[in-house]
Amino acid sequence: MSIEFFTRLPLHGETQFLPGDPRNRGDWHRGGPSTGAVSGFNVGDHFTYIDYLGQIARAAEINGFGGALMVNAPSGEEPWTVCSLLARETRTLKYVTAFQPYHYTPWVAVQQAATYQRATGNRLIWNIINGGSDAIQRQVGDFSEHDERYERAIEFMDVVKGYWNNETFHYDGKFYKADGGGLRGPQKKAELPLICTAGSSIPAREFAARHADFYLMRAEHPTEIAALIADIRERALKYGRTGIRFGLSIDVITRETEELALAEAKRFFDEGIARGAVKAVAAHAGLRTARKLSYEHDFAGKNETQGFEDFFIHPNVWTGFGYIGIPPGCALVGSHENVVARIREYNAIGIDLFFLAGYPHLEEAYRLGEHILPHFRGERSGLSRTNEPLPALHSANGPSGA
Ligand SMILES: Cc1cc2nc3c(=O)[nH]c(=O)nc-3n(C[C@H](O)[C@H](O)[C@H](O)COP(=O)(O)O)c2cc1C
Repeated sequence: MSIEFFTRLPLHGETQFLPGDPRNRGDWHRGGPSTGAVSGFNVGDHFTYIDYLGQIARAAEINGFGGALMVNAPSGEEPWTVCSLLARETRTLKYVTAFQPYHYTPWVAVQQAATYQRATGNRLIWNIINGGSDAIQRQVGDFSEHDERYERAIEFMDVVKGYWNNETFHYDGKFYKADGGGLRGPQKKAELPLICTAGSSIPAREFAARHADFYLMRAEHPTEIAALIADIRERALKYGRTGIRFGLSIDVITRETEELALAEAKRFFDEGIARGAVKAVAAHAGLRTARKLSYEHDFAGKNETQGFEDFFIHPNVWTGFGYIGIPPGCALVGSHENVVARIREYNAIGIDLFFLAGYPHLEEAYRLGEHILPHFRGERSGLSRTNEPLPALHSANGPSGA
């Protein structure tokens, strides 16, 4: 089983998710003076929030991470732009940019990605997402229904792959048409970005089965992850695809001893509860159409008298972050030794790409790099596309490549 480690960059603020934590790293926190000594974080200042993200990216690279996940939310920095800004400040780090087919035409995505790949040595990865909330989709102008968004995404990727692999591509689908376009000349030397996706609805799984190199998940109990992996593998097989791989996004609180790690988890938890974070989570939950994970269902039966230790769903797997609204919701909490053991446990059930991060991201990139990643030296696989035939095009209307 191969294994690779990426981290996650906080594109919508370092500490807005950590109520009560004074270590803000930019202008995303609410209230209180900035702790930034060199900048007021005004537009045009010489140290901006993007510079802070750049520090994390460099720390991640120095500490041996292979890449960084850039999350896309309307309330955050636009990830593809940030990837472009940071790519030339780093040498080897790969950047996973999330975007929705709704945000681009297939051709713009292809041309933009080809340019990026040529400039960075093929260090771009795509995370194709389709919206976790109808309300937010509508805010940004997308009035299509959930399942239709995935239908559109399948065509979008058919057309992207068609343009990428043909100089003269024709397509006549429900959402897209193409009449003769395609990458030509030097642009053809670029590699199509690896494709990640996420989402646990049936249409999301089907999209992954057809088009994804990596299916990404938020962490939950290992048996639930194993079941999801089995389901996606089975769906991918229908398209003759055996090479789909799996990624897990999980925070980490790792310390020299179990007690020190638990004390840090308790600090986050108590501060979150004291600032009313749970009520904010409940208010936001109404916006979401995405499936609730089973541990999130269990939150309904909990209340604020519960201790932080009641949120362990498996040894070292803690959902207290989710309860106080810190995404992705689950964290590995424990001694370095136990965190390594849990990573191996998830690896053994089929996860080969881990997105590990902690708060503050800069310091925790060093901690993870110094205490966790060295345990996997010599086992790291890097990422590349498995050699699978492209799945047949989706549209029944006779699209063709030439
Ligand atoms: C690792 C990971 C990263 C994700 N990144 C984003 C993101 O950047 N932006 C976003 O809107 N949704 C993101 N999602 C959410 C999913 O893409 C998806 O929208 C959500 O799970 C709901 O899909 P569904 O309703 O089809 O199940 C991410 C999910 C995972 C597991």
